[in-house]
Amino acid sequence: MKIAILGNGGREHSIAKQIRKSKKCTELYCIPGNGGTSNIAKNVDINLEKFQEIYKFVKEKKINLVIVGPEKPLVDGIVDYLEKKRVKVFGPNKFASKLEGSKIFTKKICKKYKIPTANFGIFYNKQKTLNFLKKISFPIVIKADGLASGKGVYICENLNTSIKATKEIFNGKFGRADKILVEEFLDGEEMSFFIISDGKNYKFFNTAQDHKRVGVGDKGLNTGGMGAYSPSGIINLNLKNKILKKIIEPTLKALKDKNKKFVGFLYAGLMIKDNEPYLIEYNVRMGDPECQTILPLLKSDLLDLIISCCKSKLKNKKIDWENKKSLCVVLCSNGYPSNFKKNSKICKIDKLKSRNNTLVFHAGTRIKDNIVISNGGRVLNFVSISNKFIDARKNAIKFIKKINWKNGYYRSDIGYKIINK
Ligand code: AMP
Ligand code: GLY
Repeated sequence: MKIAILGNGGREHSIAKQIRKSKKCTELYCIPGNGGTSNIAKNVDINLEKFQEIYKFVKEKKINLVIVGPEKPLVDGIVDYLEKKRVKVFGPNKFASKLEGSKIFTKKICKKYKIPTANFGIFYNKQKTLNFLKKISFPIVIKADGLASGKGVYICENLNTSIKATKEIFNGKFGRADKILVEEFLDGEEMSFFIISDGKNYKFFNTAQDHKRVGVGDKGLNTGGMGAYSPSGIINLNLKNKILKKIIEPTLKALKDKNKKFVGFLYAGLMIKDNEPYLIEYNVRMGDPECQTILPLLKSDLLDLIISCCKSKLKNKKIDWENKKSLCVVLCSNGYPSNFKKNSKICKIDKLKSRNNTLVFHAGTRIKDNIVISNGGRVLNFVSISNKFIDARKNAIKFIKKINWKNGYYRSDIGYKIINK
């Protein structure tokens, strides 16, 4: 089969690596891909907003299946667009992608189907929001409705920060806004929970925890993710069943009730308190960097699972996992998530050979004259598999030190909650 993967992050490199391993894959393309995917697939430089160009390429190369990595094309309707042209695609359609594309859409489902989540209010203008804020106690959480690359969420400790958040959102910082979400602040430990669905049935697709803040001890600015580990330290059978029954199944039912289906990966961002799950948000794709920790634990053939989803035949598939711990440390450009430089050479990376238990996934890299060059904020992902998280972290950091890249930094405490337990 000829496969094309859309996206250019560490997530897509890890997906590409799994797909390449499958006997069913004969040709692999990454659109646009990165420095890492260019070693295992053909990178094709097409802008993911240009659906027509993607289709033209897919048709010309007779691609049998398109796998969509990031949320933006999903929310913009790439699946509907390609399916209309009879191209097989793995990912949710535009309607189902509203689970990530509109936080208010998801909250309304939570309310109707009694899915546990933070109490909330939806406000339709700036003044009414400000009036409400003056009457409540803090902290609270204010959110822009649509996609905002992880930046549309404000944790507000006091009235002033909440007023600033409200004004920024209504003034269009994250695109035109005619409504806003105000939420109760939830306390607890966060977990990323994944399923894979074929539209009729779904299977559990493991758990992870990520570190979104830039600094040691989860302090400082939010980032795209500084590291992750899988499985989550707080998952247990009882909690897993609660998540499936109280959150995942009612959500899939809500879509079915509207005659819509969900095909693809569904990622529930949860807050866990006293072994009870609360939905914070949905993402309609794998997490990044969670995916880079989960896929190396997968023993089953990922392409085979994805094909079975596209044929609505996931039901009889068994998904097997390595009973090990996986941990990812992200190497970032100095200055990220604020200003950082691109185009810095990463010289020693070629000499690093991924061994079975330690892998390197590229994110913001490209290749120029056979040299790996940094091309983004989050540059490389070092993933190690071991019996213990502490050893996985040691091995990942050993690899980073071998590279000795002067223009980068990383968090040395990834997984501290579980490692120090
Ligand atoms: P997001 O960028 O949508 O992934 O969410 C940003 C982060 O904000 C989440 O990962 C949580 O850490 C935090 N967050 C969002 N909603 C709440 C809430 N209601 N209570 C506490 N923390 C929240
Ligand atoms: N790791 C967070 C995300 O992928 O949204």
